[in-house]
Amino acid sequence: MAKRPIQFKLNDADAALFVDEGANLLDVLRRGAGDLTPKHGCGQGTCGACTVLIDGEVRLSCLTLAEAADGKAIETTGGLANGPELHPLQTAFMEGFAAQCGFCTAGMLMSAKALLAANPNPTREDVAEAISGNLCRCTGYEPIIDAILTAAARLQGRTA
Ligand code: FES
Ligand code: FES
Repeated sequence: MAKRPIQFKLNDADAALFVDEGANLLDVLRRGAGDLTPKHGCGQGTCGACTVLIDGEVRLSCLTLAEAADGKAIETTGGLANGPELHPLQTAFMEGFAAQCGFCTAGMLMSAKALLAANPNPTREDVAEAISGNLCRCTGYEPIIDAILTAAARLQGRTA
């Protein structure tokens, strides 16, 4: 199979890889770039476990051609923490027991990050809408929504 070179930013670091034509971004991130934080759930666009941000936009990496990442900036959960310092979303998820098995968590965090970048003061309904493409079979969603609202409040210097 023909390969082509692509270059992109992965969590602010330069990445350059040869990818198979037609390869999906999820596989390239996990196997090529070694970032295991985006998860392979359904592999067909229905669960959201593979959610990443491409130039700040929410994308399902399992449905995105790796070639489409050429020249783009990709963010994954692997880049959320600042060294040992967790991102406020991660802290709120941890404190609020918003992860059980954790399989959905990476995708949830990226959808939440995009939401808070676009809408720093979301309503509960806004949060529910933002994570509507991310399936969770464990939590019943309420702790996740609460955690995102808590993180939003903290980022704004408010109490939730
Ligand atoms: S693995 Fe991509 S949407 Fe499920
Ligand atoms: S915590 Fe298990 S799927 Fe969400």
